[in-house]
Amino acid sequence: MESKGTRIGVVVRVRPFLNKELKSGCTNDRIEVNSDDKTITVFSDQKQQKRFEFDEVFDESISQEVLYNQLKLDNLIKKVIEGYNATIFAYGPTGSGKTYTMEGYDYDKNLKPVLRDELKLGLIPRLVKNLFEEIKKAPKHIEYTVYCTYIQIYKENIYDLLNPAQIKPPGLKLRWNQQEEFYVENLFMHPCYSANEVLNHYNSGLKNRITSSHNANTTSSRSHSLLTLNIEAMDSETGSILTSRLQLVDLAGSEKVSQTGNEGSALKESIEINKALFTLRQVISTLASMRDGEASFVPYRDSKLTSLLKPSIGGNSYCLMIACIAPLDSFFDDNLSTLAYATKAACISNEPIKNIDPKTKVIKELRKEVKRLNFELKLANQQIMMLTEIVNLDPKEQATRLKEVEKLPMKAENLTRIQNLRSNIESMSPSSPLKWQSQTAYSKFSDAEFSDFSLSPEILSEKLYDSVKMIRDLMNSNKKLKDVVSDLTQQKRALEAENIQLQNENQDLQEKMEALENIVKGKGNSSKINSEIWMLQKEREGLIKRIELLEKENKTTNVVPINKGEWGWKSKRTVLRGRKHIDTVKPLSVVVSDRHYDPRNTIGRVTPKAVYRPLTQDYPIDMSKQEAINTLSQILMKGMPY
Ligand SMILES: Nc1ncnc2c1ncn2[C@@H]1O[C@H](COP(=O)(O)OP(=O)(O)OP(=O)(O)O)[C@@H](O)[C@H]1O
Ligand SMILES: [Mg+2]
Repeated sequence: MESKGTRIGVVVRVRPFLNKELKSGCTNDRIEVNSDDKTITVFSDQKQQKRFEFDEVFDESISQEVLYNQLKLDNLIKKVIEGYNATIFAYGPTGSGKTYTMEGYDYDKNLKPVLRDELKLGLIPRLVKNLFEEIKKAPKHIEYTVYCTYIQIYKENIYDLLNPAQIKPPGLKLRWNQQEEFYVENLFMHPCYSANEVLNHYNSGLKNRITSSHNANTTSSRSHSLLTLNIEAMDSETGSILTSRLQLVDLAGSEKVSQTGNEGSALKESIEINKALFTLRQVISTLASMRDGEASFVPYRDSKLTSLLKPSIGGNSYCLMIACIAPLDSFFDDNLSTLAYATKAACISNEPIKNIDPKTKVIKELRKEVKRLNFELKLANQQIMMLTEIVNLDPKEQATRLKEVEKLPMKAENLTRIQNLRSNIESMSPSSPLKWQSQTAYSKFSDAEFSDFSLSPEILSEKLYDSVKMIRDLMNSNKKLKDVVSDLTQQKRALEAENIQLQNENQDLQEKMEALENIVKGKGNSSKINSEIWMLQKEREGLIKRIELLEKENKTTNVVPINKGEWGWKSKRTVLRGRKHIDTVKPLSVVVSDRHYDPRNTIGRVTPKAVYRPLTQDYPIDMSKQEAINTLSQILMKGMPY
């Protein structure tokens, strides 16, 4: 099932005045909100006015709960459960209420989120709860797993908010592949089976998000955050797998230095935030100005944010933009710009596509085939029954009954098959009574179309046999597919367990690294480490010395020239046989190489006087020439004596 050309939904929310704004005498003479006719009118200094119309417009009186219900987000959740991707993103200037709308938490003195009032909960916690309520309603044979990821894009770097090891620079890499388009590499994906599990991850991730204060907002998000829920539904009865994605985005707001008063590093943050939002606006403008079927370059790749939002804006997801504005006159320019881009976004068409697992497609096709064959089988059975009755009747009655056979529903494809049957009958022996009966029946047909309908019970039963066999085969392959799916389920569980274990190991390693860093920085006891380093250095020096000695030895010893071909990849025995003249060469010295006798891998040498032991770097045995040759033979036969 595909629904084409679904417009991005755009709604506007105007936040109320904050206490401090009321106290300082802020006013609203510039914006008029009309929720009934879903319009917002803005007035310029010169009293010119511009009216904007949206899917919904919410004034400052609207509560979080009413907002959720009026947006009909439960319908969106149903779509996600059906296998469609969906994105909700909040857009607007700094301090306009994006985070309030998406999260709804309060922030303590340390700028960490705290839940003080359940009624203030934003769209994200509500959507998560709603998602799991819908999952609960699903039939028992469908098993759902929700994989949760949470990232922030801060100064064009991507950080995994759910992995403490990845919240510092350099961050994670953005990759691209043809199936998934853009994706974040090495991102933690937490399998969750309840709303609480997702919300626990979300809350711990929120604590890692970068928030700071400036003149326009005491709890300003300094990064764009993307919470993604990948939903996987596995049907244990049919073996089908359905996947979908719900992406919930809280953008950082566009900022003006005049409003924020930011300086230094905060100013740099503002510049980066504005850069990514600039690209987002460019993407929106390009898509909005494109005519149907027109190809145009859309600068998705210009920022990480737009790369990751590609499927949501102008792609294959359902998408809802919540444009947030503040009622203050000082927000006039930002509000006007936000409303203009929201209007443009409303012109963008996405093409939501239901994600179907390729296996599910095959199963569907097989089912269709089984259904068709069942239908044919039913027809064939009817025909056989009637014909069996006809065979024993007198010719007159046969003619009447055959007319009834004629009335059986017959598809064009069946007619072709019947033609084939007829040619089979023609090949039957003329003395066959069945052939005679079929021909009698055939001659009584008056209708030209059915004159091809050869009525041999023998052939029909053969056909019937084939059909039954085919159905059986299909059922078997269906069963096999189910087995494969159940195997996959088990594998998936094992992988999940492994994943969690790896994550834990990763965590341990991270902790160890941090501990080591601390020691190196002098925070911990460094004497043990120093002595280890000293030992390693000594070991290294020893190794270097040994290498030097070996090289020296290599240069000074007279080596029997060895034909490369002779050494190359031969067995020890062959090499020994090939060098029988060894005791006649003077002075004698033979390279003893590794077990493949590759001269490049030389590891030692034997002379008539001594056997050099590279490991101890000495010539411990003072041997006679004959003894040395015996030792050499042994080495060549058995390998080095260590
Ligand atoms: N609908 C609302 N009702 C009550 N208070 C609100 C509402 N919307 C926003 N606020 C308050 O306004 C202030 C700014 O809101 P918020 O932090 O959500 O803005 P923002 O758009 O996320 O800003 P930034 O882009 O800087 O992150 C907060 O103190 C928040 O509690
Ligand atoms: Mg915010």
